Amino acid sequence: MRKLITPLLSGLLLLPALLPLSAQAVDGSDIMQKGGANPAAMPCITCHGTDGKGMAAAGFPRLAGLPEAYIAKQLADFKAGRRENAVMQPIAQSLTPEEVAAVAKAYAELPKVNIKPGPVERPQPGSGAWIALRGAWERNIPECTLCHGPAGVGVGDTFPPLAGQSALYIENQLKAWRGTKAVAATRKTKAVAAVPPSRRNDPNGLMAHIAVDLSEAEIKAVSDYFAGLGESKEAFDESQHRLR
Ligand code: HEC
Ligand code: HEC
Repeated sequence: MRKLITPLLSGLLLLPALLPLSAQAVDGSDIMQKGGANPAAMPCITCHGTDGKGMAAAGFPRLAGLPEAYIAKQLADFKAGRRENAVMQPIAQSLTPEEVAAVAKAYAELPKVNIKPGPVERPQPGSGAWIALRGAWERNIPECTLCHGPAGVGVGDTFPPLAGQSALYIENQLKAWRGTKAVAATRKTKAVAAVPPSRRNDPNGLMAHIAVDLSEAEIKAVSDYFAGLGESKEAFDESQHRLR
């Protein structure tokens, strides 16, 4: 009995010494600014901006105001390799589960995108606005706003906002879901090797089906359309986000 109790007791004695460490709450905004405990988890602000609005020209996405559960899911997907990216995978792998939860919560609490109202004139067939608002049902492409909400403000935890997101980033994601098909060489062209999709994390393949059927020009046009909807200088209009 004594043999059992002694290690138990010494364990108990050690507890108070360990407590301050484990009880220390992980601070999400600290991670944004200074990175995680592991130095490989670099400060998020380096690329996602001091205000969390991203760096549009570089294709670094906005994180401010994205749903907490969506951010945590993406970090888990990078970690597991369902979403491949040379920059974000090592960062996601270096964050502890507590750090992921804290940083996701902190970004979700930053202001949501304050969208500009979309153009009022009737969209031209085939334009970015047309794809966004009407889709191309003859090719089974639903309008993006069906899932991403009116004006692409996002719906719930599952459908992220597209309005005000970097155009290059949106384009990169559609291409990541699509991959490229192999193209046989002709006498004039070089052969193009098939690149498999590098993003495979959408529930039920919702985005993969859409991305495969969009042309290169449509991808560019719809990305520019959604990027162009942010960021209004007017007072924030909560009603635009009423579905969330
Ligand atoms: C060195 C630059 C860099 C740093 C530092 C960085 N990121 Fe990223 N992050 C990126 C890039 C680039 C992407 C887009 C990857 C892609 O195209 O799939 C991205 C994408 C993301 C996404 C996906 C967003 C979405 O809409 O799906 C999340 C979430 C994210 N980063 C979180 C973080 C967090 C949290 C940190 C800090 C711990 C961080 N990032 C630090 C460059 C960076
Ligand atoms: C049937 C529902 C549905 C439709 C329609 C839809 N999406 Fe999505 N989309 C999703 C879901 C679900 C996700 C989140 C996937 C994940 O968990 O990573 C997503 C994510 C995205 C992302 C990634 C955003 C980010 O922050 O990383 C982009 C870009 C995107 N969709 C573009 C589009 C465009 C452009 C259209 C219209 C051509 C469209 N979507 C139509 C369901 C849909």
